[in-house]
Amino acid sequence: MNSSTSSSETSLSAESAIRFSQRGYASADQPISVLMAQALAQPDLISLAAGFVDQTSLPVEIVRAASEKLLSQPEVGAAALQYGTTAGHSGLRDVICQRLAEADGISSEGLAARCMVTAGSNQLLHLVAEAILDEGDVVLCAAPTYLVFMGTLAGVHATSWSVETDHEGMVPESIEATLRQFEEKGELHRVKAIYGVTYFDNPQGISTTPARRAAIVEIAKRWSRKHKIYVIDDTAYRDLRYEEQDEPSLLAYDDMGSHVIETGTFSKSFSPGIRVGWGVIPAELFNVLVQLKGNIDFGSPNFSQALMAEILTSGAHEQQVETLRSAYCEKRDAMLAALEASFGGKDEVSWVHPKGGLYVWLSLPEAVKTGPKGQLFDEAIRRGMLYVPGQYCFPAEGVPGKTNTIRLSFGVQSPDRIHEGIASLAAAVGAII
Ligand SMILES: Cc1ncc(COP(=O)(O)O)c(C=O)c1O
Repeated sequence: MNSSTSSSETSLSAESAIRFSQRGYASADQPISVLMAQALAQPDLISLAAGFVDQTSLPVEIVRAASEKLLSQPEVGAAALQYGTTAGHSGLRDVICQRLAEADGISSEGLAARCMVTAGSNQLLHLVAEAILDEGDVVLCAAPTYLVFMGTLAGVHATSWSVETDHEGMVPESIEATLRQFEEKGELHRVKAIYGVTYFDNPQGISTTPARRAAIVEIAKRWSRKHKIYVIDDTAYRDLRYEEQDEPSLLAYDDMGSHVIETGTFSKSFSPGIRVGWGVIPAELFNVLVQLKGNIDFGSPNFSQALMAEILTSGAHEQQVETLRSAYCEKRDAMLAALEASFGGKDEVSWVHPKGGLYVWLSLPEAVKTGPKGQLFDEAIRRGMLYVPGQYCFPAEGVPGKTNTIRLSFGVQSPDRIHEGIASLAAAVGAII
């Protein structure tokens, strides 16, 4: 290093010498991280915000027994404690695909070859975004939808674009109309995917009906004239059903396995601490995702995967899902009863009755602004409860977000605390209008 370089370097202040990447500068705190931090910092606050799972029913015993079983067989234990493959534990991929094929009434042949295991389904969603999206590209999303995925899209400089929803899920006519608008502008090439949470979605708790599932896949295929438009089917809450029967996922409507990227997770149905998610991906995209994952971690934690394989194979997962269904159903009912008690019969107040999942979506009178800068948010915290402002859940472009909405989660709190939290929310609403 010559002396002039060294003197100019030392004359730079430490701060001006820092240069992040464009993505580094573009990154922002996810609203959900801020809300989670707020809840953790104030333990007395009744948080109906974060989508955490029920602490009291986490499967400690099941995991202890499965770990013991793995570790009591020296070779199996050692293999689980070694690095695995980038695509994931083959026994786990097999059992995930058998389960999926059975639930969807499809053949399991060839599924495992395009199944990969990730550290939660968020990582799968992130890899998909990295693999298919360039700056300026667009993903059509339900309005409202899973807010973390919209952050992922923003992080790769892509745009989440809203599609209308009703009580049956995304409205096919709205998807078509949006695609037509892009075509008319000569910008159809920007639309790379349609994303939906098709079982008890986050945040509305709405499931996509079979007719809508078929329509979404059909539209994606028909509009894939010049380039492929994928459908990302996020099935995070599929196992958490409290009413009616399971229905086949979008994969069942994609007979050639060409357009649907299906992702699922054991975070909600078993344990987010183990953090195992998966994806079944069209063949041409599968290798790209594996290569991208190879650059990140060349495989998710192998012990977690071996553990989940054991837990699924032994039937312990299904047993845990049964336990969770009854625990969450009670909490869901507590939240619906609390809403009825506090808001029933009130003008311009409504909520969705979810048949599964972890959320209730509440709409308040238009004039009530639920956002973090509005009066209600602060008043609710002052009265001891926290919610997710609904506006966080709306795509960046398209139809404007609804500023009078709230996402409530019944996953964490006990039925009593849910009642208290909703009563505090009602008192806060009463205080500001
Ligand atoms: C709709 C949806 N998809 C995916 C995830 C990600 O879960 P994980 O990364 O823990 O698998 C969540 C978590 O809240 C979710 O709500």
